[in-house]
Amino acid sequence: MFNLKNRVVVISGASSGLGAQMARGFAVQGADLVITARRIERLNALAEELRATGVKVLPVQCDVTDPVQVDAAAAAAEKEFGKVDVLVNCAGSAKNAGVLEMTNEEWDFTMSADLDSVFYVTRAFAKIMKKNNYGRIINIASMYGLVGNPAIDTVAYHASKGGVVNFTRAVAAELAKFNITCNCICPGYFATELTEDVLKTDEFTAYMKATVPLGRYGKTGELNAGAIFLASDEASYVTGVILPIDGGYTAI
Ligand SMILES: NC(=O)c1ccc[n+]([C@@H]2O[C@H](COP(=O)([O-])OP(=O)(O)OC[C@H]3O[C@@H](n4cnc5c(N)ncnc54)[C@H](OP(=O)(O)O)[C@@H]3O)[C@@H](O)[C@H]2O)c1
Repeated sequence: MFNLKNRVVVISGASSGLGAQMARGFAVQGADLVITARRIERLNALAEELRATGVKVLPVQCDVTDPVQVDAAAAAAEKEFGKVDVLVNCAGSAKNAGVLEMTNEEWDFTMSADLDSVFYVTRAFAKIMKKNNYGRIINIASMYGLVGNPAIDTVAYHASKGGVVNFTRAVAAELAKFNITCNCICPGYFATELTEDVLKTDEFTAYMKATVPLGRYGKTGELNAGAIFLASDEASYVTGVILPIDGGYTAI
């Protein structure tokens, strides 16, 4: 089960963190990969590493907040592989502030990086999936898209990720007729470039231990099983699902 050989998997935000971890996980399942981000040198290094395992990898430089670059990335993927089976919308970034202090620029930056981008990328790649009457879209939102939090003021991030959660349901309903599923993973706390400055503090670690039932941060690669399942042929009747992988944070 869950073999992805001959499947083409596109991952946005694959130059670091959860996106790079998922690329490694998909390669183990035999998938060919299109990895995108802005830092092309990081993508090239990851591509070299993954090709050594026997899969094909196309690195594509792309800023997901620019729909022209996104459409060009989709065209490059289709030209190289002739199809796209799986899309993982993982790219994201945020400027943190509370609702009373947040500037318009901080709000716009976050909505653009985390919500507009998911729309641009989904639109471009789902058109390719539709031609083949097959697709698996997996959006990486956040547990903060499901609940508020008292520890970090990050109102735009909550809003954008909440938008990704319900975008998932709308896309699932709309694209089902093309045999395209759309599901969402809501990660909890994983130490990455995006989060490590906050997560490594004693104060935040104490907060995490008090609010995450499993009592620890997510480990490297611990998102992969959920993503591989949702990407697989075996998940053919699963769509519109919101899957927290958060150590139980949203369960209490
Ligand atoms: N880590 C966590 O605890 C956590 C929890 C919940 C949700 N998430 C979500 O998981 C996703 C991945 O985050 P991460 O934790 O792995 O952080 P990360 O290590 O900072 O990775 C973010 C990725 O997104 C890419 N990216 C950011 N802005 C982009 C843009 N405008 N255009 C293209 N690519 C862009 C970055 O690549 P370049 O800089 O090279 O472009 C990088 O590959 C994000 O959507 C994040 O919100 C993370």
